[in-house]
Amino acid sequence: MSGRFISLEGGEGVGKSTQVRRLAEALRARGIDVIETREPGGSAGAEAIRRLLLEGAGDRWTAPTEALLFAAARADHVARTIGPAVTAGKWVLSDRYLDSSIAYQGGADGLGEEAIRTLHGIGSGGYLPDRTLLLALPAGDAVARAAARDRDGADRIGGREDAYHARVADSFDRLAAAEPDRFRRIDAVGAPEAVTNRLIAAIADLL
Ligand code: TYD
Repeated sequence: MSGRFISLEGGEGVGKSTQVRRLAEALRARGIDVIETREPGGSAGAEAIRRLLLEGAGDRWTAPTEALLFAAARADHVARTIGPAVTAGKWVLSDRYLDSSIAYQGGADGLGEEAIRTLHGIGSGGYLPDRTLLLALPAGDAVARAAARDRDGADRIGGREDAYHARVADSFDRLAAAEPDRFRRIDAVGAPEAVTNRLIAAIADLL
């Protein structure tokens, strides 16, 4: 029996965390052993790095330092959590993975896709998901949802300007178009159960 690694991606406020939980429940109902995880984080070391990344002043890190910290967190996450689980035949669902670094640090911060992939090669052997589900909303909806969430306190990255998040969204769209075998773009509009059904349909060939 072979495990699977699925990542969910998207901008702020698209409902990723809810959908990771719902998709995990749907897979468990089919008898699959599922682990839910997230980035930055997902292992003890990566959760420690998460606090460095998301707490503190907006200018705490330079863009290259931030990219290195995300890559370091991911390396620990792959080595300690994702890799062992997939080897043991489990399915791993991750709320964000490499493509977030390509979209945020590579695209919106301007470090470039190649630099991020190089760091990923060093840190995690270039390990990629079997499928990446990109949750997409019309721009206005995402901004509205993020604004609602931000009233409860934005983190260092989520609180960046709208133009930054627009660059993130463009980068995700380009990635999805460039890797159609790995990516599925999922319409995140509608009732949560409708979105979950779209996600299940987008991994049906892996079941
Ligand atoms: P989180 O609270 O998990 O936000 P969300 O619910 O939007 O996923 O915070 C993660 C933040 O870190 C989010 O703003 C996206 C950002 N991020 C990057 O910039 N690069 C990365 O590689 C990852 C994994 C996340």
